[in-house]
Amino acid sequence: FNVDWDPGDAEKGGYDHFMLKEIHEQPKAMADTLTGRCFPDKIVLDDVNLDAETMKSINRIQIVACGTAYHAGMVGKYLIEKFARVAVETEPASEYRYKDPLVDAHTLLIVISQSGETADTLAAIRLAKEKGARVLAITNVVGSSIAREADDVLYTNAGPEIAVASTKAYVTQVGCMTLLALHFGLLNGQVDKATMKRVTSGLKDTSALIEKALGDHDKIKEYAYEHFKIDDMYFIGRGLDYYTCLEGSLKAKEISYIHSDAYAAGELKHGPIALVDAGTVVIAVCTQENVFDKMLNAIKEVKARGANVMAIAKEGHDEIIPEVDQVFFIPEMDDEITPIPTVVYLQLLAYYLSVARGCDVDKPKNLAKSVTVE
Ligand code: G6P
Repeated sequence: FNVDWDPGDAEKGGYDHFMLKEIHEQPKAMADTLTGRCFPDKIVLDDVNLDAETMKSINRIQIVACGTAYHAGMVGKYLIEKFARVAVETEPASEYRYKDPLVDAHTLLIVISQSGETADTLAAIRLAKEKGARVLAITNVVGSSIAREADDVLYTNAGPEIAVASTKAYVTQVGCMTLLALHFGLLNGQVDKATMKRVTSGLKDTSALIEKALGDHDKIKEYAYEHFKIDDMYFIGRGLDYYTCLEGSLKAKEISYIHSDAYAAGELKHGPIALVDAGTVVIAVCTQENVFDKMLNAIKEVKARGANVMAIAKEGHDEIIPEVDQVFFIPEMDDEITPIPTVVYLQLLAYYLSVARGCDVDKPKNLAKSVTVE
């Protein structure tokens, strides 16, 4: 007597796809990223051996990565500049390695890679090391090539990620970047006690915040099932929300094959608005307090042209309700923490669009989990 049994299904732990399982593993992944590292007055990073002296000798920080990890790098740039007040450049590894970058013994190169095996990222490390730079790697795979070749390593502790589209690796990379930005700020003397307390306590809340976002999955599914036949969609946001938009747009492209773009909302009027007409789906991420009103204006602009708008905003901003077709509220939290729970909505949106369109969620066409050749 034979039972049809696919070992892969067992590993999915009752979820239909690895991606959905990994989306739901994010609260735990985040907790594992922070455990033993995040304290109200200090950040403890075992394999990062940068001290105040070394930080002083560094006059340039570069962040280099590919795909989703590159988006985590953009969040990192924003946060390092904010907390440590050092200028940071970000570049896709495939660009960096071929452009004769300005890199020397006073450069800190930060690379981010889930697999630790991406060919372009590895090549960037080798190039920078040859020129005398110090290399810090954020990676998920212990003992990977990138972990071995870097001088300092910060493991994301997300656990194995099987789905090609990255989810829990991304949120933990963002978590690591936040820790690193605070750490640099302390070494530089740029971060005050109150900020440390505020942001580390915000980080500790992220597991619960992700859990709360996951609780909205039925409503996101409903939105996805109403709109899955679209050909195009646009993500708009400002500041940290812009990077979340880039990641949400990538997720949608990767697994649902819907054409999508992400724009800094202030750029709408410089071109993209020409693409918006009746029924165009626009996802507006509006979590940053200082630009909330600007986002509301952008929403009015696209609504006036007939767009269907799904928004994400912080609780307390009820004025957004009449302006949009669907809104998801995240609890009040620090602006610097919002990228972590916010992206969960966009992951779920991409996931349900993909399922509704009958796509192979875990193994999208033409894509590989790890790109180890050029
Ligand atoms: C591939 C994967 C992406 C990933 C990128 C970088 O394109 O499909 O999900 O973001 O590689 O991979 P890495 O392992 O370096 O983070």
